[in-house]
Amino acid sequence: MKNLFTTSPHYPRTRMRRNRGNVFSKLISAESALSVNDLIMPLFVVEGKGVSQSIESMPNIFRYSPDKVLKVVEKIVSLEIPAIALFPKIEDSLKDKSGSLAYNSDNLICETVRLIKSEFPNLGVICDVALDPYTDHGHDGLLINDQIDNDETIKALVKQSLVQAEAGCDAIAPSDMMDGRVSAIRDALDSKGLKDTQIISYAAKYASSFYGPFREAVGSNNLKNVIDKSSYQMNPANSDEAMREISLDINEGSDMIIIKPGMPYLDIIYRAQKEFNFPILAYQVSGEYSMIFHISKKGYIDYEKAVLESLIGFKRAGACGILSYFSLDAAKMLKNT
Ligand code: PBG
Repeated sequence: MKNLFTTSPHYPRTRMRRNRGNVFSKLISAESALSVNDLIMPLFVVEGKGVSQSIESMPNIFRYSPDKVLKVVEKIVSLEIPAIALFPKIEDSLKDKSGSLAYNSDNLICETVRLIKSEFPNLGVICDVALDPYTDHGHDGLLINDQIDNDETIKALVKQSLVQAEAGCDAIAPSDMMDGRVSAIRDALDSKGLKDTQIISYAAKYASSFYGPFREAVGSNNLKNVIDKSSYQMNPANSDEAMREISLDINEGSDMIIIKPGMPYLDIIYRAQKEFNFPILAYQVSGEYSMIFHISKKGYIDYEKAVLESLIGFKRAGACGILSYFSLDAAKMLKNT
């Protein structure tokens, strides 16, 4: 790059604006592209019938009961969005210390997966693996003597993965950040004949404040305290550590990896793509969604342009796909252009 710059002629012979002047050259010289194929829509599900609940922290995003989710999924499929990621909101009375509903094959998520898959077998269905929607303390893992116990948590995550895979989801997405869980989940899936179920692991997930609105959405914000997950989620200061996490997950058998949050961590996506050349998904999380949503509602930025700009940024950085709450809207925008 440096060489090219120093050896190429300068202004006025070189005019960078020439390629930007014509529609054709702008199109042809584009270095990355965003398409509907890149998008994954996260969806929140809640028990009941005919329910669609608004979420205060995430305007325009709803929690749907399984029958209502089907209607939204129909829209998603008609827009040709390739996949969804499901997250449950569990009633407080059904939560316990060990998050036992997570590994009950009749739970809300398994029921929803079976329903969606029976109607839309070709839509990719990704299920989160972590205990936080199910535990009364709101942590992703099992609390033993006030500590999140890695190895006991893995046993629960394996059981959760198996019920979800048996319900028919295409991919298991562990978002818990326990050590060694990808390998344990792969072994368990294989031993049950679920060799085709993919693992899309959150390899580098940071302890981020940008998850705030999500925690309201799934009701995991226990006791009005902000839960400290920093004993398992990563320190935002670290990048080398993310590369180690990613390399471990790839070696343990992940089929794709997720980097999360998105916009504050574009350097991690870029670096991981350069180092591993492996399918990387960006997760544009709830706080990023709310930020863009609110500032555009205030009229300070253009909603559509800002959404598309934020999404192409992930592609430019090196992600092959994006989990984003804007997916439905973005797909509509992309269809119209
Ligand atoms: C928890 C989980 C979180 C998100 C997805 N899975 C939040 C957390 O770790 O507390 C966040 C997603 C978002 O903010 O959009 N397993």
